[in-house]
Amino acid sequence: MPKPIGIFDSGVGGTSIWKEVAKKLPHENTVYLADSANAPYGEKSKEEILRLSIKNTEYLLKEGCKIIVVACNTATTNAIDYLRSHYNVPFIGIEPAIKPAALQTKTKKVGVLATKGTLSSGLFHNTSKLFAEGITVLEQEGKGLVELIEAGRIDSLETRNLLRTFLDPMLKENIDCLVLGCTHYPYLIPVLKEILPSNVNIIDSGQAVARQTRAVLAQNNLLTKVNDTPEHLFYTNADVRVLKDLVDDPTAQVSFMDF
Ligand code: DGL
Repeated sequence: MPKPIGIFDSGVGGTSIWKEVAKKLPHENTVYLADSANAPYGEKSKEEILRLSIKNTEYLLKEGCKIIVVACNTATTNAIDYLRSHYNVPFIGIEPAIKPAALQTKTKKVGVLATKGTLSSGLFHNTSKLFAEGITVLEQEGKGLVELIEAGRIDSLETRNLLRTFLDPMLKENIDCLVLGCTHYPYLIPVLKEILPSNVNIIDSGQAVARQTRAVLAQNNLLTKVNDTPEHLFYTNADVRVLKDLVDDPTAQVSFMDF
């Protein structure tokens, strides 16, 4: 049985990344960990985010994973350097897509919606400085959004009201790109499209992460070339139903696991 790709997130949001990875790499087996019992990570200290990232990594390594996708901006920006230097498998991370937004914007104003843990990280600041010269980056903490998505309440009045509160000040400043800096947020895209004017592009990093995962597997000779019945295991330490509904894939085997 080919070794799987391991993917973890603070909860169900990283399934938005899993979908892109599974599309791009259709022969790979995958194991996904949703650490929903500890969500949101975004409000935790750097030390706590690191401790949880180590726990998730060690579980995935026990499952025999050959590469680990940290499908969480908060865990990437706070823990990936440590993970890369302490474990002997490649790690793929995800960060808010500032660079493509900076290349696309015409108004020179870009909004970033992300967690407190991501926005306060050194990695995020370095990326912003590097790629957004001459661009105004309007940062907004999406406080409360991860909790609503974890509760399966995406299409709710509360979600709409919260998003309006977060987006109105950015829209007044004339942003034309909104970077989704949290892997939970792509699930908000249908609601975001109702709220945002049509000139505002929504940018997320899911496809870029899948491309990078493929490239790193190829470089390391780790690609699975033949496997017509890939296995996709999903483990959550909270509500199985919310994870199952979001994954929405007949090949997914979703179970509860107290990891
Ligand atoms: N999906 C995580 C991210 O990309 C959510 C973080 C959280 O749990 O606060 O940042």
